[in-house]
Amino acid sequence: MTIHIGAEKGEIAETVLMPGDPYRAKWAAENFLEAPRLVNETRGMLGYTGTWKGHPVTIQGSGMGMPSLSIYANELIGDFGAKTLIRIGSCGGMQDQVAIRDVIIAMTATSLSTPSSGIFKEINFAPCADWSLLKAAVTAAEAKGTPTHVGGIYSSDVFYDERPDLNEQMMRHGILGVEMEAAELYNLAARHSVRALAVLTVSDHLKTGEALPSDQREKSFGDMVEIALEAAFSE
Ligand code: HPA
Repeated sequence: MTIHIGAEKGEIAETVLMPGDPYRAKWAAENFLEAPRLVNETRGMLGYTGTWKGHPVTIQGSGMGMPSLSIYANELIGDFGAKTLIRIGSCGGMQDQVAIRDVIIAMTATSLSTPSSGIFKEINFAPCADWSLLKAAVTAAEAKGTPTHVGGIYSSDVFYDERPDLNEQMMRHGILGVEMEAAELYNLAARHSVRALAVLTVSDHLKTGEALPSDQREKSFGDMVEIALEAAFSE
């Protein structure tokens, strides 16, 4: 047990999928894992462990934003020995060619700051995805026929943005979408020599103002979960 995760040692798998929403962790565990078992409910941040095609997998909510994700990822890596961490979540589309329901696989994540900024100080560290996971996720997405984009995303500190000029610069520099967690996950993975990836579903679009109706979310999010699982166990 740790401060934020009530699971016993051994109840967390080496492979962890991390949606922001704890109820999406429940939904993904119940729909994609065999024999899912609730292993954490501290602060309502649900975590489940089961198997996928015989491989042990934990699906643990991360909460919203990098400070929250950082707490869970630090404990998963440092205390429970997680070796492969894949964020599954939603993002806002930022380019014309990116449509609602498409999947974005993040090679890298730009940010204004992350919980690691305090140690990086003057360094503009470039957080980057694990290549083996990235490659396997792209292969899985192509096999599935899911419209998928691979490139940079923006990990923002705010959902309610008061600086439209920042989003404009991101779009101008080819950033595919905005979310709030991946950059710190990639920082932590680099620091602790583990593998990380973010596979995201476009739930809304900053250019068109479109948003995915809630009744259509499940199918789109299901593709993302399968892509993440196939990537984790491709070797
Ligand atoms: N901004 C930040 N995070 C998000 C968004 C967004 O538009 N959509 C989904 N996650």
